[in-house]
Amino acid sequence: MEMKHFIYLLSLFFILFATFSSSNSTIVSHDERAITINGQRRILISGSIHYPRSTSDMWPDLINKAKDGGLDAIETYNEMQNFTTKIVNMMKQENLFASQGGPIILAQIENEYGNVISSYGAEGKAYINWCANMANSLDIGVPWLMCQQPHAPEPMIETCNGFYCDQYKPSNPSSPKMWTENWTGWFKNWGGKHPYRTAEDLAYSVARFFQTGGTFQNYYMYHGGTNFGRVAGGPYITTSYDYHAPLDEFGSLNQPKWGHLKQLHTLLKSMEKPLTYGNISTIDLGNSVTATVYSTKERSSCFIGNVNTTADALVKFKGKDYNVPAWSVSVLPDCNKEAYNTARVNTQTSIMTEDSRKPEKLEWTWRPEVARKTILKGSGDLIAKGLVDQKDVTNDASDYLWYMTRVHLDKKDPLWSRNMTLRVHSNAHVLHAYVNGKYVGNQIVKDNKFDYKFEKKVNPVHGTNHISLLSVSVGLQNYGPFFESGPTGINGPVKLVGYKGDETIEKDLSGHQWDYKIGLNGFNNKLFSTKSVGHKNHKLKWSNEKLPADRMLTWYKAKFKAPLGKDPVIVDFSGLGKGEAWINGQSIGRYWPSFNSSDDGCTDECDYRGEYGSDKCSFMCGKPTQRWYHVPRSFLNESGHNTITLFEEMGGDPSMVNFKTVVVGTVCARAHEHNTVELSCSNRPISAVKFASFGNPSGHCGSFAVGTCEGAKDAAKIVAKDCVGKLNCTMNVSSDKFGSTSDCGGDSPKRLFVEVEC
Ligand SMILES: *[C@@H]1O[C@H](CO)[C@@H](O)[C@H](O)[C@H]1NC(C)=O
Ligand SMILES: *[C@@H]1O[C@H](CO)[C@@H](O)[C@H](O)[C@H]1NC(C)=O
Ligand SMILES: *[C@@H]1O[C@H](CO)[C@@H](O)[C@H](O)[C@H]1NC(C)=O
Ligand SMILES: *[C@@H]1O[C@H](CO)[C@@H](O)[C@H](O)[C@H]1NC(C)=O
Ligand SMILES: *[C@@H]1O[C@H](CO)[C@@H](O)[C@H](O)[C@H]1NC(C)=O
Ligand SMILES: *[C@@H]1O[C@H](CO)[C@@H](O)[C@H](O)[C@H]1NC(C)=O
Ligand SMILES: *[C@@H]1O[C@H](CO)[C@@H](O)[C@H](O)[C@H]1NC(C)=O
Ligand SMILES: *[C@@H]1O[C@H](CO)[C@@H](O)[C@H](O)[C@H]1NC(C)=O
Ligand SMILES: *[C@@H]1O[C@H](CO)[C@@H](O)[C@H](O)[C@H]1NC(C)=O
Repeated sequence: MEMKHFIYLLSLFFILFATFSSSNSTIVSHDERAITINGQRRILISGSIHYPRSTSDMWPDLINKAKDGGLDAIETYNEMQNFTTKIVNMMKQENLFASQGGPIILAQIENEYGNVISSYGAEGKAYINWCANMANSLDIGVPWLMCQQPHAPEPMIETCNGFYCDQYKPSNPSSPKMWTENWTGWFKNWGGKHPYRTAEDLAYSVARFFQTGGTFQNYYMYHGGTNFGRVAGGPYITTSYDYHAPLDEFGSLNQPKWGHLKQLHTLLKSMEKPLTYGNISTIDLGNSVTATVYSTKERSSCFIGNVNTTADALVKFKGKDYNVPAWSVSVLPDCNKEAYNTARVNTQTSIMTEDSRKPEKLEWTWRPEVARKTILKGSGDLIAKGLVDQKDVTNDASDYLWYMTRVHLDKKDPLWSRNMTLRVHSNAHVLHAYVNGKYVGNQIVKDNKFDYKFEKKVNPVHGTNHISLLSVSVGLQNYGPFFESGPTGINGPVKLVGYKGDETIEKDLSGHQWDYKIGLNGFNNKLFSTKSVGHKNHKLKWSNEKLPADRMLTWYKAKFKAPLGKDPVIVDFSGLGKGEAWINGQSIGRYWPSFNSSDDGCTDECDYRGEYGSDKCSFMCGKPTQRWYHVPRSFLNESGHNTITLFEEMGGDPSMVNFKTVVVGTVCARAHEHNTVELSCSNRPISAVKFASFGNPSGHCGSFAVGTCEGAKDAAKIVAKDCVGKLNCTMNVSSDKFGSTSDCGGDSPKRLFVEVEC
């Protein structure tokens, strides 16, 4: 394969927060243990934030929250040689590499190519060597990484990506053990459920990684964000790229994940010296429980990991008893006291909700997509003999491509007087079929069946018949071997099939002359643009009469006021079918709220124990995969009117569309004794205490119940006094604070369960 095919591939940069004071150059290198900065081994915690998935005005807040969450570095991407060279040159000009005194400590070239390299044989090897040489020749003065690339060509450092990397060992003995993508959750597909990865399990995977010698890890994603416009790939990746990451799609803290990890980061950082310079010894405590001691002359730090998926462990270590729950890691910064356990979450859970403001009633206008000439006459922009792949025709300039042909049928045609169907072998993500301007039906890709047969009864006429097929793509393939050459659109065959009794006759239209038209007229005329309002060239005006519902290929427009304040804005697309939406001319992405996930495969209870996979602990079964869409504040005019434009492809009813802000609604915590608990409603005061009990309460947020023992003092009163009316409050979870309890039974620590309203 020629190298020019790879210009779309990625390069990545790890940008370090300026925690390493530097007026002059910083020397970033590595040895077998860790990345070194100015000769010192460092523990580095990094997170992926991809800048196109948020707006530039969100970046400072996201980066501050990442730093506050205990991250040392941000990882971000983009293309290959030309782009990499350009960016490297720009960065060099600004002296951004650590070798020049700047904050960039590491760079990555390629992404998970090791997963596909074998499909390309010798050329795959040649390519990865080319990447290494190209990157190396740019002479950036900091190390380059290749993730998921066993035997990466030197001096590239190979790294691990995954839900867990504790079992990972670099194939090159001089490479440190590094984890570049610690998957904090998973992305969502249209028709899929919401992925959910517990804070307990994510923390477990991180702590295990550091217990087993890791020194660098990056969260993929730390902030996932939004696939604005048509950038979502997949195919079928949704507009939301929330990823169940520590910062949610809108940039708010995803609690308890953010806070639970922050505590772990602080501890790991405090153990940097022993973790990077200490001698390592492991002690098998039985039943899959292992203690690891990192010791330098000055100090020792320890982990006790319980990998057993079901059995909690009571172990004796250095003369003390430790209770280590199943599938958890206890962190003992000085080897004599547990400071943290991955399964004991003391951070609050924040339940996000839409504000309770009465939604503004939107006055819609509408107009049809004008497609008569296309559908009835088959006139397009291009003509070809036979069927051509959608990507090759559109070059991805649009999701929409018309395939149109003519077929002459006279009375002598053997097909005549039979029941006729149109049969289309299709790779279109969505296919809409018309015969002589009459809609025949549609079919969509479901359950990953990207290759299907569409067959519908048709009633052709004597003479010329026009067959018009609208092929719609919903994001192009973006991963896997030869992903660029996978079929998209209508690859055929396309046939008319006549049935009479057991007899079948087929007429293959695939080799006919086909007319192609790229895009739809409304897109080509920019009906979504704020400047298109009242455009003279548009013969059809926007109408405010007889607002149609469930009408295909229809444009809708309305004015609205921006919700006040700074809280993230979302728009509810309940009632709509499928299409694209714009705010003041800027696309907020594809929408498809009518696509529900399947009814099964969700559980009420999510057990954090045991290996995570993208299907584990899914929620929102039988509900729209994505109902709410992010409207970035920077797309809105706070003082004036704003315009929302919809292109409805499938047919829907816009009357329920409304704008909301997303805020913290309820805050819960289930903190353990001898810890502090911090409660906050973000930027609003805490308004009321709904539940508080110290002892052995039970239940989930929203259904907490008092247990068999309780502290002597009125917990609700104490919480109310400390918290109500305040932006935040911090309380010790102790008998001193909440009163001693009667016997709670067993030796499990006492807990404070609390639920407050924002
Ligand atoms: C990238 O490619 C363009 C077009 O071929 C060329 O003009 C430009 O100089 C290249 N830039 C770099 C940094 O290689
Ligand atoms: C992965 O992320 C989880 C959650 O933050 C963390 O506990 C775990 O330590 C991370 N893994 C590594 C190897 O850093
Ligand atoms: C986990 O604990 C159970 C109960 O003690 C034991 O039967 C099982 O063998 C353990 N599993 C592993 C992998 O250690
Ligand atoms: C680490 O182990 C080596 C070899 O056993 C020993 O020489 C050295 O003193 C140890 N260092 C510490 C800090 O324990
Ligand atoms: C066409 O199909 C209908 C049922 O769908 C059947 O009753 C009829 O006999 C068929 N006609 C021919 C010509 O096969
Ligand atoms: C999809 O889910 C919504 C919300 O639960 C429900 O109202 C709607 O009827 C569902 N649609 C289908 C086709 O099942
Ligand atoms: C916002 O709306 C006000 C009032 O209509 C207008 O004067 C202003 O130019 C608009 N600002 C932008 C950025 O469009
Ligand atoms: C807690 O509230 C105080 C004001 O009561 C505020 O100054 C501070 O920034 C808040 N802290 C956090 C972490 O929100
Ligand atoms: C928690 O208790 C410690 C003493 O055990 C005390 O120093 C600290 O001030 C208390 N913190 C709060 C928030 O009450």
